[in-house]
Amino acid sequence: MSGDLASRFRALWDEIAPVGRDAGSGGYLRYALTEPERELRAWFRSQAQRRGLPVTEDGNGNLFAHWGEPEGSDAVLTGSHFDSVPHGGAYDGPLGIVSAFLAVDELRAAGVAPDRPLVLAAFVEEEGARFGVPCLGSRLLTGALAADRAAGLRDAAGVSFAEALGGPPAGARPDLLGRFGAFVELHVEQGRALVDADAPVGVASAIWPHGRWRFDVVGEGNHAGTTRMADRRDPMLTYAFTVLAANKEARLRGAHATVGRVSVEPNATNAIPSKVTGWLDARAADPETLSGLVDAVRGKLAERARRDGTEVTVTEESVTPLVAFDGGLAKRLATLLDAPVLPTGAGHDAGVLAAHLPTAMLFVRNPTGVSHSPAEAARDADCAAGVRALARVLEELTCR
Ligand code: GLV
Ligand code: MN
Ligand code: MN
Repeated sequence: MSGDLASRFRALWDEIAPVGRDAGSGGYLRYALTEPERELRAWFRSQAQRRGLPVTEDGNGNLFAHWGEPEGSDAVLTGSHFDSVPHGGAYDGPLGIVSAFLAVDELRAAGVAPDRPLVLAAFVEEEGARFGVPCLGSRLLTGALAADRAAGLRDAAGVSFAEALGGPPAGARPDLLGRFGAFVELHVEQGRALVDADAPVGVASAIWPHGRWRFDVVGEGNHAGTTRMADRRDPMLTYAFTVLAANKEARLRGAHATVGRVSVEPNATNAIPSKVTGWLDARAADPETLSGLVDAVRGKLAERARRDGTEVTVTEESVTPLVAFDGGLAKRLATLLDAPVLPTGAGHDAGVLAAHLPTAMLFVRNPTGVSHSPAEAARDADCAAGVRALARVLEELTCR
């Protein structure tokens, strides 16, 4: 191996940095199973091949590279996802995969021969940016989402997940899941706790419960110039009130509520909309606060719809319960790495897998604290510290 670890990180990182980057925003458009994400999946295969790691797929779109017997049990799994939100940052997801390959290199250079197989993973559609349900690949693998429901999810162009995958997803794979004894996901931090703690790497304690609710508001499309104000049934008013109410209700509870996506029909400047659809993303430290928040927003939406003469339908698209990562494992890793332990409000495949096997997460410092935005950042030196930490953790878990 040539150069220091930070330079080796940069060299490998630069191989994928241009893939799916939007020249205008500088952010990434790497939607699951579209051309840029497929290019990254091919890159995963070539990196695995370069290291002599056979690659398998689970029939759900998740990729696995095996160091050690692919049929072996008690394997340690590590990895993350390639897909991005619209104009997302570079690190959210890919950092965990690039770090996994570099951690293998570190272990090999140090002459470490794992007693348990080590498996590197690239999970499909973690963000839910294309098919609407986050952690789609890990939910399918674990059976948290039924294969037929996933198969029928459609993207904005009407393409189903099954069509994008090239066939119906396999769904739950207990045979495969049963071979894993632990999962560790390394991820860029999506906040500034590590900046405040002056630490390059942290260990996760928990993920806030969170979910997505779509609200369709139907009114009456009409002429902007000729319809008297008193005669309108304007769904935009119901929508706008609901956005403000969600913000207020979240603040009152110390929770988070976001409406970051909206669709308007017919979307014309001089027409009162006939329909507005918004998506509420709500998160809180505990499930009671989350359900109280969502109930309150639903109440405000219904109340305002009565006033506006509009009709509303609320659809729960996905809910992820509170995830408390294995406390013993988190403490062991925090001691091993001398790293702080912190909770997060962001969802991860690790949160889905935690219901099935001992799972831990490592976070790498993000100087801006920004994520799901082109402004997301991480320094090469901190990414190298993340690789070193991941290699130590994998050695600890794979060597008896
Ligand atoms: C995933 O990044 C999420 O928390 O939405
Ligand atoms: Mn994300
Ligand atoms: Mn992520």
